[in-house]
Amino acid sequence: MAAQLALQDVSLQFGGIKVLREVSFTVEPGSIFGLVGPNGAGKTSLFNCISGHYTPTSGTVRIDGNEVQGARPATLARHGLARTFQHPALQLHATVLENVLLGAHTRLPGGALEWSVRTPRTRRAEKELRAEALELLERNELGWAAHLPADELSHGLHKGVELCRALLMKPQLLLLDEPAAGLPHAEVEHLIATVRRLRAEDDITVVIVEHHMGLIAALTDHVVVLDNGAKLMEGTAAEAQSDPRVIEAYIGKDGADDAA
Ligand SMILES: Nc1ncnc2c1ncn2[C@@H]1O[C@H](COP(=O)(O)OP(=O)(O)OP(=O)(O)O)[C@@H](O)[C@H]1O
Ligand SMILES: [Mg+2]
Repeated sequence: MAAQLALQDVSLQFGGIKVLREVSFTVEPGSIFGLVGPNGAGKTSLFNCISGHYTPTSGTVRIDGNEVQGARPATLARHGLARTFQHPALQLHATVLENVLLGAHTRLPGGALEWSVRTPRTRRAEKELRAEALELLERNELGWAAHLPADELSHGLHKGVELCRALLMKPQLLLLDEPAAGLPHAEVEHLIATVRRLRAEDDITVVIVEHHMGLIAALTDHVVVLDNGAKLMEGTAAEAQSDPRVIEAYIGKDGADDAA
């Protein structure tokens, strides 16, 4: 069976700045995989290379064995990929439900023409998606907010809305960029339970970038540590936390506090 996600020698350069240096790893189907490292290590840039927001300067990204580096996000959605962002960028004046529905256009049948004339088929599909979006919001305890403008919700709740948007895409592979940042302790526990359920009930493979080592230790089977754009080590969360190279990488950097 092909790995769900496989990176081979992924490098990324902007002008003279090397952001990623020959990063390779594989993520097995059904796993929860952690990507950690100090601030500026290149974690978000690596996610951007996987999700089609950046094109790697060299190297390959494979999803289910298919080479996808350089493909557009909409194409990657058809390969089963969805993601959330470190800084959620919701449409603030649109409702929470409308924001969630934005994720699903790749699931709608027919081309642009069919949508512009709104056939019975497109209307039916739209209605089904709305029902699914409402159900997702309910499951994530956001049903009460469905018809409120997004700007009436806190930053923490925006993350929940973004997760629902990503889940409406019915992904097989989900990338979460710092889902716990800024959440109070009780919400982090809730997030841990949610991610466990995504794997157990929805069969979703999850890759998480997080500074919250408690969450990484509780959830992941395997982690890769990035430092200065390069893979420093990989292993279990416990191995990473006790590895002298990892401890050294965090010391003296902004991430030192986060790693505690
Ligand atoms: N579009 C870009 N142009 C130039 N430099 C970039 C660009 N995107 C990222 N970088 C640089 O790449 C480096 C890695 O940034 P990145 O955001 O990937 O780190 P990170 O590991 O996600 O950090 P954090 O934990 O703070 O979120 C930084 O030095 C950043 O300035
Ligand atoms: Mg980042």
